[in-house]
Amino acid sequence: MGVVDASRVLAGAQRRAVRLSDTVLGAFGRHHSEQRLMTDAAGYWADRDAPRWLDDSHWRGGRFIDEARFAAIGTDHLALFDRLAGTVGGRPDLGCVLEWGVGGGANAVSFAPRAERFIALNINPASPAEAARVVAERCDTPVTEIVADVARPELVLDDVPAGTVDLFVCLYVLELVPSPEYGLRLMRLAADLLRPGALAFVQIKYSIGRAETRSPRRSYRHQTASMTSYRLDHFWTAMDAIGLRPLAMTLVPEGVLDHQYGYLLLQRPSS
Ligand SMILES: C[S@@+](CC[C@H](N)C(=O)[O-])C[C@H]1O[C@@H](n2cnc3c(N)ncnc32)[C@H](O)[C@@H]1O
Repeated sequence: MGVVDASRVLAGAQRRAVRLSDTVLGAFGRHHSEQRLMTDAAGYWADRDAPRWLDDSHWRGGRFIDEARFAAIGTDHLALFDRLAGTVGGRPDLGCVLEWGVGGGANAVSFAPRAERFIALNINPASPAEAARVVAERCDTPVTEIVADVARPELVLDDVPAGTVDLFVCLYVLELVPSPEYGLRLMRLAADLLRPGALAFVQIKYSIGRAETRSPRRSYRHQTASMTSYRLDHFWTAMDAIGLRPLAMTLVPEGVLDHQYGYLLLQRPSS
């Protein structure tokens, strides 16, 4: 085994040890406060010098998110959206699309060409700018860049009036918000942003009952991609209560980037 391989194995073992200790501490209620998790999340995603930032943010040209993976994220997601939307009649023109957590624009480049307007939102300013840049290489759809405050996401309503969005997209994000409650807070906001009859296409990580697949509510920096999970039936019911009617769902138990993903198509009722 070479030096590089050995250090990877060591890093993997270290991550599993931290995960185990967080699982145990989390199970005993040793959680970090929501405020601390939000602060840690803001710090994590602002740290552009961190070695994994490019890949974690899904920017084109990372070590793991290379050209092919970047392209596949958007084309696969758009195809999945079309498949789910097909169950309710489909729609070639997507209208005003808002992507919450746009990253480097992997979805934006696929969804924007079919939109009248694309709103690229992230919690750091670099990502909406990068998404706007890669969209401009692909099409003329106007892109609005929005930077959200992790602690006060509802402020986005100052920039995007309630009831004006036709499609809310949130992919590879709801698993890395501070807590399940925060995820539901974002979905309530999505319901406010959508016009009556409009759709949301979102992805969650689902729990399969084992302790290590539940939300640890601690150690944001170490647990980033496993920070928040839901039981599928709980999320489905919660969406109905929020005013987003679940229309269809599909599961990806094992994907290229991660595992235990549920994709939902939701609709804000017309009246
Ligand atoms: C894994 S990337 C996913 C990017 C893109 N959605 C995709 O599917 O390729 C996660 C992105 O979510 C952003 N993010 C993290 N927490 C967020 C939050 N609370 N609200 C909005 N964006 C957030 C990160 O800055 C990062 O750009």
